Amino acid sequence: MTEERNHTTTDSGAPAGSDEHSLTVGAGGPIVLHDHYLIEQMAQFNRERIPERQPHAKGSGAFGTFETTGDVTGYTSASLFQPGVKTEMVARFSTVAGERGSPDTWRDPRGFALKFYTDEGVYDMVGNNTPVFFIKDPMKFQHFIRSQKRRADNNLRDHDMQWDFWTLSPETAHQVTWLMGDRGIPRTWRHMNGYSSHTYLWVNADGVKHWVKYHFISDQGVEFLTQDEADRLAGADGDHHVRDLFDAIAAGDHPSWTLKVQLMPFDDAASYRFNPFDLTKVWPHADYPLHEVGRMTLHTNPTDNHAQIEQAAFEPSNVVPGIGFSPDRMLLGRVFAYSDAHRARLGANYKQIPVNRPHNEVHSYSKDGAMRIDPVSDPVYAPNSKGGPAATYPGQPEPQWAADGEIVRSAYVDHAEDDDWGQAGTLVREVLDDAARDRLAGNVAGHLLDGVSEPVLQRAFEYWRNVDAGLGADIERRVREG
Ligand code: HEM
Repeated sequence: MTEERNHTTTDSGAPAGSDEHSLTVGAGGPIVLHDHYLIEQMAQFNRERIPERQPHAKGSGAFGTFETTGDVTGYTSASLFQPGVKTEMVARFSTVAGERGSPDTWRDPRGFALKFYTDEGVYDMVGNNTPVFFIKDPMKFQHFIRSQKRRADNNLRDHDMQWDFWTLSPETAHQVTWLMGDRGIPRTWRHMNGYSSHTYLWVNADGVKHWVKYHFISDQGVEFLTQDEADRLAGADGDHHVRDLFDAIAAGDHPSWTLKVQLMPFDDAASYRFNPFDLTKVWPHADYPLHEVGRMTLHTNPTDNHAQIEQAAFEPSNVVPGIGFSPDRMLLGRVFAYSDAHRARLGANYKQIPVNRPHNEVHSYSKDGAMRIDPVSDPVYAPNSKGGPAATYPGQPEPQWAADGEIVRSAYVDHAEDDDWGQAGTLVREVLDDAARDRLAGNVAGHLLDGVSEPVLQRAFEYWRNVDAGLGADIERRVREG
């Protein structure tokens, strides 16, 4: 039986003459320039690559649904978090420092980016698989990422450069402890948690505000790869995590995560023992326990990875009524950085690419620009008396907080227990067990033995002694013994 097949067309939809033969002057003669179908194939091919993300270039994702199962109406009016509401979404997981073809199993934090198509606009939660970050001021972000990527001279990644930055930036200690431990190489993306890391602001229908941190807890459990397993996989199957997610979903094994939140009453922030807006700190659960919100399930693979995942544009600036920012200066920096990156990577009208498009109606005054697809209509200005849209925020003003003071360049004012080493030390002593501590020391020593020069090494030993005296001594002994 012969299969019914479509006839190939040009991109303009007209029948193409052949999938195999260019137009030539006789069977042995040259190609002619008016074979516009051949030209179209060549020209399109030459333009297939777009700039990769800087950072988080290697990743993949899937579509799913978020269902609110708990009751957090007392804390946020956000429509997606009202009981029983189901919201379509897309997720993208990634490594940070590697390029688009780099191995999935390199030690690195993993990106955990979510886009929810709510009835009040697109909401993005762009987090990582760790609850803290390396730095707390966006001024240092560019330098930090450069120190993790490649040198200028030999184009190689360089542990000396990484430890040079980390040891000169003691605020990195907490996140580096996570990174060098088991969470630094998840077994699969399905086996890792996701965190907002930042503190956000939730506002309920009565205008009552709480600070909030998100924890997406893997229903598959948290599992890791040892350094040896990861090194082997980096050679044997560099796309191990991409493949695992795609194959699981294709086989009907749909991964899910339960969203839980920590909620801090608005007025607690000023006197809390840790600065709640410092991205290098967690809020211990004994202080602020977890409340269940709902479950996200990934059930549908992309059919065109480029169109649906590579062109997905996640941005912390995508918030919806009931959710706002906090004074975390890293978050405020990110609110600018992502849309700027998308305009550079995807073009001014990136929000019209289907994966980025809101599922509710858009009535903005944006117009024109390269690749605009949606036609605009008059009036094209506001205010107007011609029936154009008028901006009113539903119910209450956008969630904000008060700020006052001289305009300065300064570190955060420390709260009672803020310091760079304390929470890292607690993680080492009270969260990790003996075996995990042993792997941490081994991972750090292995990393330091790979090209870190003497003055930086000395600082690294001191860095780890500041985290925990015993761990620091153990690491130094392992490195000195080679
Ligand atoms: C990707 C900037 C901190 C998570 C990116 C991109 C930029 C960027 C420019 C590439 C975006 C694109 O081309 O699509 C920054 C800046 C930061 C910062 C300026 C600090 C000031 C963070 C933090 C987290 C994070 C703290 C996690 C809590 C991510 C994720 C992606 C990403 C998950 C990949 C999103 C995707 O899958 O498309 N970041 N970032 N970033 N960033 Fe950040």
